[in-house]
Amino acid sequence: MCGIVGYIGPREAYPILIEGLKKLEYRGYDSAGVAMLSPAGLKVEKAKGEIAVLETRVGNNVPPGSTGIGHTRWATHGAPSDINAHPHCGCSQEFAVVHNGIIENYLSLRQWLQEEGHRFSSETDTEVLAHLVEHYFTDDLLQAVSQAVKQVEGSFAMVAICEQERDKLVCARKDSPLVIGLGEGENYIASDVPAFLNRTRRIYILEDGELAVVTASVVQVFSANGRLVQKEINEVTWEAGEAEKGGYPHFMLKEIMEQPRALRDTTRGRLINEGRDINLAELALTPEQCRNIERIFIVACGTAYHAGLVGKYAMEKILRLPVEVDLASEFRYRDPLLDPNTLVLVISQSGETADTLAALRLARERGNPVLAITNVVGSSVAREAEKVLYTWAGPEIAVASTKAYLTQLLSLYMLTLYLGKQRGILDGQSLAEMGTALYRLPSQVESILGREAELREISDYLAPWESVFFVGRNVDYAVAMEGALKLKEISYIHAEAYASGELKHGTLALIVDGIPVIALATQGAVLDKSLSNIKEIKARCGHVICFAREGEINFAREVDRVFSLPAAPDIFMPILSVVPLQLLAYYTAVARACPVDKPRNLAKSVTVE
Ligand code: G6P
Repeated sequence: MCGIVGYIGPREAYPILIEGLKKLEYRGYDSAGVAMLSPAGLKVEKAKGEIAVLETRVGNNVPPGSTGIGHTRWATHGAPSDINAHPHCGCSQEFAVVHNGIIENYLSLRQWLQEEGHRFSSETDTEVLAHLVEHYFTDDLLQAVSQAVKQVEGSFAMVAICEQERDKLVCARKDSPLVIGLGEGENYIASDVPAFLNRTRRIYILEDGELAVVTASVVQVFSANGRLVQKEINEVTWEAGEAEKGGYPHFMLKEIMEQPRALRDTTRGRLINEGRDINLAELALTPEQCRNIERIFIVACGTAYHAGLVGKYAMEKILRLPVEVDLASEFRYRDPLLDPNTLVLVISQSGETADTLAALRLARERGNPVLAITNVVGSSVAREAEKVLYTWAGPEIAVASTKAYLTQLLSLYMLTLYLGKQRGILDGQSLAEMGTALYRLPSQVESILGREAELREISDYLAPWESVFFVGRNVDYAVAMEGALKLKEISYIHAEAYASGELKHGTLALIVDGIPVIALATQGAVLDKSLSNIKEIKARCGHVICFAREGEINFAREVDRVFSLPAAPDIFMPILSVVPLQLLAYYTAVARACPVDKPRNLAKSVTVE
């Protein structure tokens, strides 16, 4: 995720900004830059690649000045490049802005600004902010920023500086974090505290809608309607290592907790009007291209493959199109049957997985249209696919994928609804019903995340076992596979997923007294069948922990423990049912003292075959 640093005070800003940016490196980034108010004017230095590349480029020509802003960019709009790196300026090189978040209406703002005579140099959404500030500036930067952010839809944490008001930084936030570090005669701004933790522990946390004017000696915070806000000073008690993880002991837990934000970001500009409509114009698919698809082939590895399995159920159910899902390592060597009207959908968090990339290349060689769902802008998969639908999960650091998986599911659902709309299968009302249900999911995920105590108790039961089973029917089976993968990856417990109806053809022989069986039962059409399977397990004295929708069949009477899930349409339940399974795997791994973020023998990105 992008990182923001700002400094104003008596000292040279450049080394402080660089140091702050380095402290934010853990967030992941692909380019870095700084803007300084130097005596000779506003100086911007930026470069694709690591901060070291920027430092080398600047060399001995360090811009002097004691006011500046810096940024590490994780690309969303426009590939990683020198030009797309932040800070961004208006036309006049008198204003510079750094920004985290996503500006949903940037295309219409950009068009309007161009009509007003503004010239753009990058592909980013952020650049509109710089031009907006420039557009509204008369003699007061706060006023200009305040007017600019009022026009912006989406999420932002931003800091602006300008030539005419050299004694201040102005910042604002909505749905993206920003903190102000309070020093003695100097102040800092950052997207998160590690950036300045070695310099001050006293902070103001900016709330949504607030703006602030930060000078070397004074910090004034204003509400969206311009009223001065009396802020409370927070003392940071975390150590640097913890702070990188947002106070969580592991990146995996941090990333699980970030999922509501990741989901919301992934819907931005796509689920319109609280989900009543959907727009994936970014795919530039004509209605005719959508109608011509006769079959879909989903190819991926690991967790992304499991997302594909869920996608198959959704697409076949809603689009009534045949969907095949294959592991990329199998697909590439089995001479797959690909008709010209088969859309090949590759899913990859990193966009660099060797097998997935090879599968993509094979499909392209055969002349098939390839659409990629990936989390990394400018990755190999993104560059080589014809069409890309980005998940906006932000960088995922823990080896075990969590937030990327959830945003992959959401992207598959959105793609399904979009194709349904374009193919004329979904009328306005059905689309609105499903879209609004999708739109509600982030808050429902939030409600599950608050119930960690229940899950800790379950994990205490799982931790001593060396074998755990996951069962489910229909799309629950696909989620069971992901739940089992999470548990085996990080807790080293043998975990096996089985389609509930298949138990009697093998796995039932392994059910012994007390063995934990995680049973998913969220699918209305097969609920009775799922219950029968649960009874088969109970009859062999298995210990059944059931994940079911609140208020459905009284599972409590039949099983050892129930974890109730909020209600969503059957097909969307995986987004809700997988979250407790992620937490279960996490707490179990912690109970077994496993190295959660870096499990043995595994890598985050598998770029070799
Ligand atoms: C590795 C990771 C998994 C991931 C898989 C596919 O095995 O450990 O978490 O699901 O690669 O990665 P991708 O980046 O293509 O989604």
